[in-house]
Amino acid sequence: MKFHAALSGKDIVCDITSDRAMQAPVFCFSLMVPPVVIEGGTLITQTGGYGEVQLPELAAGEAHRVVLRHANPSFIAANRAWLPLGAYLRDGAETIALPRLPSGVADTPDSPFAPFDGLRLVPQPTQWQPTGRTIAATGFVWHDTPALDAVNALAKRRQMIPFSADDGLPVSIATDATLAEDAYGLTITTSGVTVTTNGYGGTFNAGVTLLSLLMTHDGELPLGQITDAPRFDWRGQHLDCARHFYGVETILKLLDLMALCKLNRFHWHFADDEAFRVEVTCLPDLWEKTAQRGEGHVIPSVFGAGISSGGTYSKADVATIIAHAKALNIEVMPEIEVPAHALAFCRIYPETRDPAENGQETSVQGYNGNAANPAMPATLEKFKALATEIANMFPFQYLHLGGDELPHETWSGSPAARKLMEAEQLATTDDLFGWTMEKLGAHTASLGRRPAAWEEAARGKNGGIGNGALLFSWTGQGPGIAAARAGYDVIMTPAQHAYLDMAHSEGQQDWGANWAAYISLEDTVNWDPVPDDAPDIAPRIKGIEGTFWSEFTTQDWEVEAMLAPRILGIAAKAWQPAGATSGPQIRSLAGHYRAVFDRMGWARNKAA
Ligand code: ACM
Repeated sequence: MKFHAALSGKDIVCDITSDRAMQAPVFCFSLMVPPVVIEGGTLITQTGGYGEVQLPELAAGEAHRVVLRHANPSFIAANRAWLPLGAYLRDGAETIALPRLPSGVADTPDSPFAPFDGLRLVPQPTQWQPTGRTIAATGFVWHDTPALDAVNALAKRRQMIPFSADDGLPVSIATDATLAEDAYGLTITTSGVTVTTNGYGGTFNAGVTLLSLLMTHDGELPLGQITDAPRFDWRGQHLDCARHFYGVETILKLLDLMALCKLNRFHWHFADDEAFRVEVTCLPDLWEKTAQRGEGHVIPSVFGAGISSGGTYSKADVATIIAHAKALNIEVMPEIEVPAHALAFCRIYPETRDPAENGQETSVQGYNGNAANPAMPATLEKFKALATEIANMFPFQYLHLGGDELPHETWSGSPAARKLMEAEQLATTDDLFGWTMEKLGAHTASLGRRPAAWEEAARGKNGGIGNGALLFSWTGQGPGIAAARAGYDVIMTPAQHAYLDMAHSEGQQDWGANWAAYISLEDTVNWDPVPDDAPDIAPRIKGIEGTFWSEFTTQDWEVEAMLAPRILGIAAKAWQPAGATSGPQIRSLAGHYRAVFDRMGWARNKAA
């Protein structure tokens, strides 16, 4: 079998060569958004970006051309990630995988960088007073310090550089109860290192600084004094494990990378339209029936799943991830993603949709019927059961409920929803959405957890979710500013700067989405979480987060060069004071961090 695809203006040109004759084959594939066929066959079924095209009879060894376009012509295919993913043929009862197209960020020669004239550390410390001298260090010696043991375990696990060495510099710990959480001091002299700390987080961060400096300064540790504290308590990275199932080992590796960047919140997005990927006792069908998608499954092969792929995180996997994170000073926030982005949920539990509903709402991803209806008793009952069980599995204080991208006009065609709106005096479907989020927010609060949600959850006549929720501003910073002024605490993850699934550049050989922006390394730092024209919101901005959606990720390794080096920009922005980051600074430091990524075996975009 041969398969080749290329972009040509608005066309996506696919050449399929079968190595045997086929009577009436069907070409199955997915694009990022719904397709139409321009030539070479007939679209016979479509779900979101997934399509099946009836082909004519194929002769062995003869190429057949199919030309596709996006149904919505305003979605322009930007690069190789927009070519058909997970393509296969169906011939009668048989399915035959077509060869994978080259995927992921292309490997290129390293781009040049200007050496950094200072402490080669990301994020940069609050203060650095160098003596101007260095010491050749083989590693460090310490006693009874679990946080340094965790740094040592990280260095060993990733085979980075020895952190512990019998002939290394001795490290002593001094406690300073006045230090803020995660803050630390370091005094590095020829006779040893003193860590000043207020607890596990500070000591761990001091250890990460020492480990990083060993690598970025090639073992020649600069002598001097560091005083360091984060700007924000919340320094997050999100990973969408619903569209692509990442192995547990990949998540552990990401947590290790986050720790090296002093990021301390892992936003685990394991539920979406396509799957609910955590084992729960309350709704076994939900994860069992969505673990795999593709041929013969509840959800067809959207987002490059191929004939069949997926997975579920068992309760033991969840415990492993939480414990691994905890040792790295990282808390894990689970996200259950309701009431929209719930196509699989609604297909498995049709009682959560109003059978009398005539609404034809379509999600941004091109799905129909992907929002559960709050007027159906099963909906809130099941959402609450999920929230309860997930909150009990995760010790972190926050539970993210989702709440983004409810298709416009959802529920407006539902008699049951209209009745509920009348009873609750809700004028619009936005009000009904806000009412729904408030009910779930109150339930979350009753579990002793703080609700979190995407920015849309502030909608509705009574101010939406309430209950002390933490909101994630993602379409930009405007909704976060408005939410802060309405009394919500906010995490800024504006897609134009922090969505690391966006391609780096306009090049067709690049890889990634582009609906918000092309995001260079510099773009990750060229913004302020508290914009100049909104100083009043400063007390409400609790942090920032990098976000990674996995629509076009079909193999774990593909995420690596999307995150590296840009995650350094997220780390700098989350930690350094306002105005202290700059494009040239992060570019130069990223050059030195090649040593860190390469030693830990984390692929990076060498052109970025
Ligand atoms: C989002 O990107 N839909 C939160």
